Amino acid sequence: MNNNPMDTSFWGNSDPEKLINKYGAPLYVYNEETLRARCKEMKNLLPYPWFSVNYSTKANSNIELLKIIRDEGLNADAMSPGEIYLLVKAGFEPSQLLYIGNNVSAEEMKYVVGNGVTVSVDSLSQLETFGRINQGGKVSIRFNPGVGAGHHEKVVTAGNKTKFGIPGSLLEEVKTIAKRYSLKIVGVNQHIGSLFLDGKPYIDGVKALLEIAIQFPELEFVDIGGGFGIPYKRLHGEARLDLTGLSDVLEAILLDWMKDYGREVKVKIEPGRYIVAESGVLLGTVHSIKKNYEIKYIGTDIGSNVIMRPVMYDSYHEIVVYRNGTPLSSDDREKVTVVGNICESGDILARDRGLTPVKEGDTLAVLDAGAYGYSMCSNYNLRLRPAEILVTDDGGERLIRRRDTLEDLMRNYF
Ligand code: LLP
Repeated sequence: MNNNPMDTSFWGNSDPEKLINKYGAPLYVYNEETLRARCKEMKNLLPYPWFSVNYSTKANSNIELLKIIRDEGLNADAMSPGEIYLLVKAGFEPSQLLYIGNNVSAEEMKYVVGNGVTVSVDSLSQLETFGRINQGGKVSIRFNPGVGAGHHEKVVTAGNKTKFGIPGSLLEEVKTIAKRYSLKIVGVNQHIGSLFLDGKPYIDGVKALLEIAIQFPELEFVDIGGGFGIPYKRLHGEARLDLTGLSDVLEAILLDWMKDYGREVKVKIEPGRYIVAESGVLLGTVHSIKKNYEIKYIGTDIGSNVIMRPVMYDSYHEIVVYRNGTPLSSDDREKVTVVGNICESGDILARDRGLTPVKEGDTLAVLDAGAYGYSMCSNYNLRLRPAEILVTDDGGERLIRRRDTLEDLMRNYF
């Protein structure tokens, strides 16, 4: 399997420089083979008909990628009407979707219910709202198992310092509200946070959720969440998540639980990053090199409007320098700070990074940019969001979203 952008085959019949010449920079490039491989890995995590994978759309909602993910047999999670709308356009059936709401209006819930999609609520007040708009309906409850995980405090979504989920201690209140509105609790779900490379907190979370789940006799599914990490420091030897180890532990816990529960229940996971991160690379061009006092800045068109993660979470993405279409050897390194073209001092892609000596005109490839890359892009500074292309299985490439145009910036005015 080819999952390495350092490998020329990642680029199909092309190379990063040719792609930029053809489609402009910055540019998101996705590799179909990698994407399909990651979908298969997740689908094969547990070999049971009761197991399924809900792709977490927020990681990357390009419709062409959604179609591939659907073609690989995954279902999906949605967090907004927009995501539901696009998932349906990509061919997903409402029954394949789970909507995981957080602080949403009754109107939004009505939209979701009207589209035949199961709703998960994550507070007692949202359960009340749901009861009022859909008395007698089916609902899933997002619990907060009390343990969180994640690569940064901003993405830890369980435990006692987050807005998400209902603590298990409020289980009786959940039941009382459900009874008042004759609601059927068909699912329990959780998501403890984003990016773990050590499965321990995830397993702890699963155990905690299952203890709660056993107290609901009408379950159709238990959704144990996403968060499966990828090794962003891949060129520095960071190890992959041990999926086989995780699978063995999960299998044992779930089978045991089903025995106690007395019947089989569907089990879902909700990976976003794991499915799409490694299939995507963000390409950009070096436009200036300067030394400001003691810091050497590599100035590029890869602003924080096109990749927010480094600014928002101090996230690390490997950067590979290409000249004349080939990657430069990384033996010779100098310490530089790679910045974008946005009017903020915080617009930093990589601080104090050891990089091959770079020249103006070189191409930079930001690896593992497929998840929370384009989906967090903005038009800040009225910069145009980049194009996205797909390197297809046959080695060709296809434009799957055009770059914004200046006219797009006028689209919502009267
Ligand atoms: N399920 C729920 C309810 C979620 O909120 C999320 C992510 C996922 C599943 C998928 O998590 P994943 O498998 O991708 O870790 N922007 C941040 C990540 C925010 C994740 C938010 N929720 C980043 O760039 O690291």
